[in-house]
Amino acid sequence: MDNLAGREFHADPHPFYAQWRREGPVREVQLASGAVVWLITRYDDARQALTDPRFSKQGRNKGHPSDTIERALSRHMLAVDPPDHTRLRRLVSAAFTARRIEALRPRIAEITSSLLDFMAEQSGPFDLIDAFAFPLPIQVICELLGIPAEDRDSFRRWSNIIVGGVAYQADFPGAAQAMVAYIRGLLAARRSDPGDDLLSGLIEVRDSEDRLDEDELISMVFLLLIAGHETTVNLIGNGAALLLTERDRWERLRADPGLLPTAIEEFLRYESPVETATFRITSEPVTIGGQNLPAYAPVVIGLLSANRDEARFPDPDELRLDRPQNPHLAFGHGIHYCLGAPLARLEAQIAFGALIERFPGLRLAGPASELTWRPGLLLRGLFTLPVTTGPE
Ligand code: HEM
Repeated sequence: MDNLAGREFHADPHPFYAQWRREGPVREVQLASGAVVWLITRYDDARQALTDPRFSKQGRNKGHPSDTIERALSRHMLAVDPPDHTRLRRLVSAAFTARRIEALRPRIAEITSSLLDFMAEQSGPFDLIDAFAFPLPIQVICELLGIPAEDRDSFRRWSNIIVGGVAYQADFPGAAQAMVAYIRGLLAARRSDPGDDLLSGLIEVRDSEDRLDEDELISMVFLLLIAGHETTVNLIGNGAALLLTERDRWERLRADPGLLPTAIEEFLRYESPVETATFRITSEPVTIGGQNLPAYAPVVIGLLSANRDEARFPDPDELRLDRPQNPHLAFGHGIHYCLGAPLARLEAQIAFGALIERFPGLRLAGPASELTWRPGLLLRGLFTLPVTTGPE
């Protein structure tokens, strides 16, 4: 059985996925944690699993865990099935509609511009992830929620550990505990001093209308923070790497910024920031891709692999900035389709547009072969992206 813990797999998983799509597209693999799961690698199977309610978030586990930390982190919409999912998603969906998100454009442009000002002051090489790809989305989600952006370094560390994106032996329970304590503190502060932000809105729904319980509230904040944090950074980082490692692409986008919307969809397809959807568990025996799965089997849906499926995309390993049809699964599909997709797309459009306009000569500060990908199967992103804006 294939073990996905190796460096070789994360450095370039595409040949592995291509082989698996051909030979045993639904297969058992072993994760770095030692857990064995079923991995779905083809587009059609992935789409089917994302819409089929037998691929459940809870399986038979409809009760609540007894551990208080686990309970506080596992009651969000992405961890539950309907009807809880429907209720929880509805509570925040109004804040994420395309229209509400579009209204954030001026503020996102302002944050972008101040980050670029800071980059302009750098005389030598610097890390584009640290200086730009990370702080932009985190500042936006913090402002939307009403959280002090100064706290971001602490929860960056905890959230990296929680999503499994660090290369060292990490203290997962410690990080989870710190995160929950931090969110409890935020809620206490907002309860005594409410504002005009999403956090205050959610507290109001909890305290006055009782439409979610305290664990669900903590979980919701946790999910929004992590989702706003660990994903868009990879869209910006992976997209910038794709443009800078092959200069023609950067120049083409510079000459024709009208390509930005299709280019961003292509970055999402080609190096999908969320490599696999979060765990599902079969609620009964299911046959998928010719494979029989028993009831209560853990399943991981390969989004990055589905997005390179030759049966769905012509020349899938070619990056086409103007790809006309691009029904990628980078934001998932079905009831758990990414709530933040309009926000992520807007941030990426503003970020790439401003970056190219302000730093036409931006380039890698080292060989492309030295770029290293973070471990873990959930997310696909680089550790660092060293660049320079100075003369060659
Ligand atoms: C769900 C991808 C940005 C909030 C998802 C899912 C994917 C995804 C694949 C479904 C996971 C599954 O079915 O297991 C992405 C990507 C992003 C991004 C690629 C950036 C490029 C964001 C942002 C937010 C967000 C900025 C904002 C707060 C959510 C939420 C869900 C979700 C709340 C759960 C929806 C539900 O369960 O109904 N995202 N996401 N995402 N995303 Fe995103």
